[in-house]
Amino acid sequence: MKKQKKILVTSALPYANGPIHLGHLVEYIQTDIWVRFQKLMGHEVYYFCADDTHGTPIMLSAQKQNKTPEQLIEEVHKEHYRDLTLFEVEFDNYYTTNSPENKELSETIYLRAKEKGYIYKKNVTQLYCPKDKMFLPDRYVKGTCPKCGAKEQYGDSCENCGTSYRPNDLLDAKCALCGTKPVEKEEEHIFFKLSAFQDFLKEWLTERVDESVKNKMYEWLNQGLKDWDISRDGPYFGFEIPGEKNKYFYVWLDAPIGYMASSLNYFRKTGKEYLFGEFWNETQENKTYVYHFIGKDIIYFHTLFWPAILKSANFRTPSAVFVHGFLTINGEKMSKSRGTFIKATSYLKHLDPQALRYYYASRLSNSLDDIDLTISDFILKYNGSVVGNFANIFSRCAKLLERLNNQLAKNISEEGKQLIQFALKHKNDIIKFYERRNFQRVIRTIEEIGSEINRYITEKEPWVLIKNDPQKTRQIITDIFNAGWILSIYLYPVLPSFSKGIWEFLNIPVDYTNNFNSISDSIEKQILLPPNHKIHQYRHLATRIQKEQVERMFLEEKQEQQTIQEKKDIDYITIEELNKIELKIGKIIEATEVEGADKLLQLKVDIGEEKPRNVFAGIKKYYKPEEIIGMKVVLVTNLKPRKMKFGTSEAMLLAATDDKTLSLIIPHKDIKEGSRLS
Ligand code: MSP
Ligand code: ZN
Repeated sequence: MKKQKKILVTSALPYANGPIHLGHLVEYIQTDIWVRFQKLMGHEVYYFCADDTHGTPIMLSAQKQNKTPEQLIEEVHKEHYRDLTLFEVEFDNYYTTNSPENKELSETIYLRAKEKGYIYKKNVTQLYCPKDKMFLPDRYVKGTCPKCGAKEQYGDSCENCGTSYRPNDLLDAKCALCGTKPVEKEEEHIFFKLSAFQDFLKEWLTERVDESVKNKMYEWLNQGLKDWDISRDGPYFGFEIPGEKNKYFYVWLDAPIGYMASSLNYFRKTGKEYLFGEFWNETQENKTYVYHFIGKDIIYFHTLFWPAILKSANFRTPSAVFVHGFLTINGEKMSKSRGTFIKATSYLKHLDPQALRYYYASRLSNSLDDIDLTISDFILKYNGSVVGNFANIFSRCAKLLERLNNQLAKNISEEGKQLIQFALKHKNDIIKFYERRNFQRVIRTIEEIGSEINRYITEKEPWVLIKNDPQKTRQIITDIFNAGWILSIYLYPVLPSFSKGIWEFLNIPVDYTNNFNSISDSIEKQILLPPNHKIHQYRHLATRIQKEQVERMFLEEKQEQQTIQEKKDIDYITIEELNKIELKIGKIIEATEVEGADKLLQLKVDIGEEKPRNVFAGIKKYYKPEEIIGMKVVLVTNLKPRKMKFGTSEAMLLAATDDKTLSLIIPHKDIKEGSRLS
């Protein structure tokens, strides 16, 4: 038996200001498959994740929703955990970066780096919004691109011409929150001396990332590394920097430390605190394993900043960083308006999570290429392979065995051994493909085995055989179910509950198959399913996907996005803007028809001033002059006087209208003319 390894695995921590979507799930499903595989190999494996909770966007999101950041991140944490778990992503711990453990570790790391001279201060000029009283991150400044003149561009780069610049370079820059012109303000920032790690990183990258990632990072390294600004001025939702005033760690400093914090929290609560050191001490570099799964947009943080930070503070660095590409849908980027920005919850309303796991596995390899979710392929893959190939093995034979008392034969036939050998022959390849994250090849191999088993069924025609040779039929089904059982183990990391469904049906305890090594032991000794084993009643394993289910999901997502967009399009006014309107109670003291005007009445309205106001109101169709004399009404009294053909109108009466009638707005109680509305 191979030596057991200690392995710690992480997925990137999702931001706590948005829901889990199908793009995220590429990563969590990829990691989960790999973790389950490693556990099946008998290693001691821990899978840690957390919500990434700090930073400006989350702070502002909370403000907008009238919540504290703590409330917001707690709610989102529950939702994220629920969604990920429903896709059978099984964490050992799903924590938060806003934790005491993370604060403690972030401070320790910072202070150690500081002590070793990797921390210094430097003045930085940044845009500041005097109205919001905060420094504006790049994405919170908008203006005209200095290169091509495109309007309404963000402060980091132009979406029109692709130029990158600093927010200060924008022409007519304004605060994206309130529209105020920001001012330049100088402030001391704290820097991490990344440049000191140039040589270390060059070396480190050679063995810790795939070739394509390494080449990308070498381009950065060859330009020379710049030091990293790790502080932000308050107001900021995050951890305060020890020994400083109103300065916080930039979210990307404490986020990866969140991996360690999630592990520390878990090891403490499970009474295994010693494991924290076994994983993270610098002496453990080659003794235990730490692997990070990430998307290609955050390589820089994980393969430059993160190893340098760990190194600076005498912690071990990651054994490897595994990078995947981005999800596209039908060949295009996910888009809210097209309805392809599918949330985990929307998917779950319409479709089986296993279908997504299977599809992603069939597309994933260790490359950086994007993964396309093509709807027709998605349906074909699940219906063809999971329903039509794998589930079929069992559903085709289950009814027949029912007629034979659900009991298997004593052992495998000579011919059956060949089928089993076929399934076993692929074991080492499957292990190798899983290990290298080449899940495409895993799936292709399992599909081949499945097809071979189905071919065997078709050839033996047990449904014909049963009429005159029930014992032979029992023998054939025994061979088939043993082969199918091996297949279910191979498949388990990708489709855990599907495989468990098979084990339940075959009436074997789940831990009977707890690792690849023990299967091969038992297989080699030819003790597959026990002799004369009785199995359970067949339960349906997988249902075909109908095209309409997928269409409905897209349609609903699109409609939901439209509703959200419409709500956003409302132009809210501020209280200051509302206060600009002067509304007063007035008493109508005169009302006369206007000659030559069929809609207007001319009124004299007393609003408590020396002279009554002259008002022309379009109410003639609805009110007779005599019925409104003496009536108290509401007027806008600071509207710019309007010259009309018949004279000047000096105020405007408030009235409401539906399609049928018009009603003046009148005060509910008798109140003195000239009273101001509040
Ligand atoms: N909070 C940071 C990660 C901090 S890790 C110390 C972050 N969060 S994220 O929510 O934007 O993304 C989480 C992970 O999901 C990242 O690895 C990211 O690459 C991945 N994906 C987000 N959208 C994705 C797609 N559309 N497709 C594939 N992966 C995607 O980044
Ligand atoms: Zn502002």
